[in-house]
Amino acid sequence: MAAPEALAFDMYGTLVDPIRIWTRLEQYIPDEALRIAEVWRQKQLEYSFRLTVMEQYEDFEQLTRKSLDHALAAAGRELSVEQKDALMAQYNDLERFSDVEPGLARLQRLGHSMIVFSNGSPRMLDALMDAAGLHQYFDGFVSVDEVQAFKPSPKTYRRVAERLGRPIGEVRLISSNPFDDIGAESAGMQATWVDRSGGLFDNLRPPPRMIVESLTELADVLEKDDRVLCPATTLSEHSAAGVIQEKAR
Ligand code: LAC
Repeated sequence: MAAPEALAFDMYGTLVDPIRIWTRLEQYIPDEALRIAEVWRQKQLEYSFRLTVMEQYEDFEQLTRKSLDHALAAAGRELSVEQKDALMAQYNDLERFSDVEPGLARLQRLGHSMIVFSNGSPRMLDALMDAAGLHQYFDGFVSVDEVQAFKPSPKTYRRVAERLGRPIGEVRLISSNPFDDIGAESAGMQATWVDRSGGLFDNLRPPPRMIVESLTELADVLEKDDRVLCPATTLSEHSAAGVIQEKAR
């Protein structure tokens, strides 16, 4: 068995699904709920990137609310304050991906150090981990709030390594968000891409060497001593299940 690793898990998109909030939005806006949920998420990330470039910071909860307002305005829709409050409350009770519980349970048994590492504010992460039953698997969380900058600022990745008490090169980010994987590697951290998008990574940098489709597959891969390395040259070849792929550099 391979040695236990220090694993830092992204939250939104990796452990819980922010887009699934469309099923709640659908109660208010049946015809455009999915589209609004997607714009909501995109705008939330865009705001976080822009603030970080401006060297400014706002609580992620505020950004999430502002981006909801934008997504609604862009669709020409309005909701009452109560309806928006209900959606924000739902954001702290997002659905866990189905592989998360079995995957984390196995990873925990394998002895890995695991921590949540997210743009989410401490209040959001605490509530979400409570609701999704995640506290039991993790040694807590690191919110970027601690460094007042959002991912992919290198400050955020350095902070997690500090918290885990390891050199940054010995920490592995587990994230479905390509910008996060690229940010982690750029800061000197290892990264695993959890491909929840059917092979669509990003063109800014090549994908990480280790790609999995689920956390159970991650447990399989980390359990194996004899990691299989095979060259991947195209994105469509990425998801050969259970193997670690060579970076297409
Ligand atoms: C997070 C965002 C990037 O959880 O999904 O940090």
